[in-house]
Amino acid sequence: AFQEELVMEIILLLLICSLTPISQGLDRSPPFLFGTASSSYQYEGAYISDGKGLSNWDVFSHITGSISDGSNGDVAVDQYHRYLEDIDLMEAMKVNSYRFSISWARVLPHGRFGEVNLAGINYYNRLIDALLLKGIQPFVTLFHFDIPQELEDRYGGWLSPQSQEDFQFFADICFKSFGDRVKYWVTFNEPNYLVPLAYRGGRFPPCRCSSNFGDCSEGDSEKEPFVAAHNMILSHAAAVGIYRNKYQTEQGGKIGIALHCDSFEPLSNSTEDKLATERALSFNINWILDPILFGEYPKEMKMILGTNLPKFSSYEKAKLRRGLDFIGVNHYASYYVRDCISSTCEHGKGVSRTEGLYEQTALKNGVPIGDLTPFDWLNVYPQGMKKTLIYLKDTYNNTPMFITENGYGILYDPDVTEEEYLNDYKRIQYMSGHFENLMAAIREGADVRGYFAWSLLDNFEWKFGFSVRFGLHSVDHATKKRTPKLSATWYKNLIEKYTNDS
Ligand code: NOJ
Repeated sequence: AFQEELVMEIILLLLICSLTPISQGLDRSPPFLFGTASSSYQYEGAYISDGKGLSNWDVFSHITGSISDGSNGDVAVDQYHRYLEDIDLMEAMKVNSYRFSISWARVLPHGRFGEVNLAGINYYNRLIDALLLKGIQPFVTLFHFDIPQELEDRYGGWLSPQSQEDFQFFADICFKSFGDRVKYWVTFNEPNYLVPLAYRGGRFPPCRCSSNFGDCSEGDSEKEPFVAAHNMILSHAAAVGIYRNKYQTEQGGKIGIALHCDSFEPLSNSTEDKLATERALSFNINWILDPILFGEYPKEMKMILGTNLPKFSSYEKAKLRRGLDFIGVNHYASYYVRDCISSTCEHGKGVSRTEGLYEQTALKNGVPIGDLTPFDWLNVYPQGMKKTLIYLKDTYNNTPMFITENGYGILYDPDVTEEEYLNDYKRIQYMSGHFENLMAAIREGADVRGYFAWSLLDNFEWKFGFSVRFGLHSVDHATKKRTPKLSATWYKNLIEKYTNDS
């Protein structure tokens, strides 16, 4: 009987092991990072405190009509003053990492044309030290949409190659000041998403577009997005170069870039739609990652854009070889893709992908790919997470990846009761579905090393102001009081489960 019991126990043990896929993916050193993500303009507030200079978003959000609810990020969620309280919330959820960005204008109010603002450096020192004291790794983005306005005013910011020097200068100061404690750096957040909004559809500052693309008439929507992205890619390379040459050996951190990574399916089985899906990937993801990892823009882009796409000189190609250490994946939504070469498409204004000759849609014969939300950039198709990760694994030689953002936003509705609002089942459903698919991708070999929920708190959602809310905690925007939603408890349980299992 004893032997039988032993055999049963062994079988049970083996079964449990095979049922616990987690250990396969998460049991490694350094540990899998579980965190929440944020950005300076969306969180900090204190927009002119302690010597901070004005950023492009400070200026833009003050122009009447820019933000749908008439708000701005002057105070945002006031993390500048409440970071200790926020770290307590993180601790309660048991996260081991926090993704935030450094406000360039807080550190360098005039870019490289003025002094370093020591009060700004000290703020980030305090934040980083307080995080580390609680065992929370800082995961730091250098550029998350906000740049000193002065760089815009002097020469048009990212449209000028001078931006490469600006960014390198800023990155150097950050590595020097914080790199002894920061082991994860993200150079750019979603350049592939920002650029079409800012230089094609005219919706984010500096609001450039040709008149046939949006509500503005200053700019060249055919060329400028690619010029701005080109300067961002080379700025990434410049920052990575500085990090590799001056800091990495001593500081021992990793550096990468975070991209907006939707997943795409052909609308039909036709060769045309399949090719259009490849173009969608090229014009979204490969646009930025191919130069950084292979030294060239994707061939579809070169063919379609011709001289509108800048070229890398051989000197620049050498710089690009500094590559990256990880890919940050911001994943939110999935789309069907339809060819626009052999069929006519109805391109909307703004961020339509006329340049890639395809159209993306969440509907196939009227049936949505997954649950839709009021936003065209968010739908619930959890399989898209796995699909994206496997695509990146296969395309980029299984470069290490972090999910740098994933989350569910709702349009704030004053008629919804507080109780209903705090019991955010839909968010939990969204995140758990996506997390399961992340685990499935790990089981298929994708080298994913962390997951950051967007976002710790309800915050300033760019053009939507405070009307779109992504937080695991609600924020009363009058008092700034934070209250955990059910999703915060759900996240804590998930982290506990996975950390104990592995
Ligand atoms: C991506 C951006 O990085 C972040 O700033 C934004 O708030 C979320 N998506 C949600 O839209």
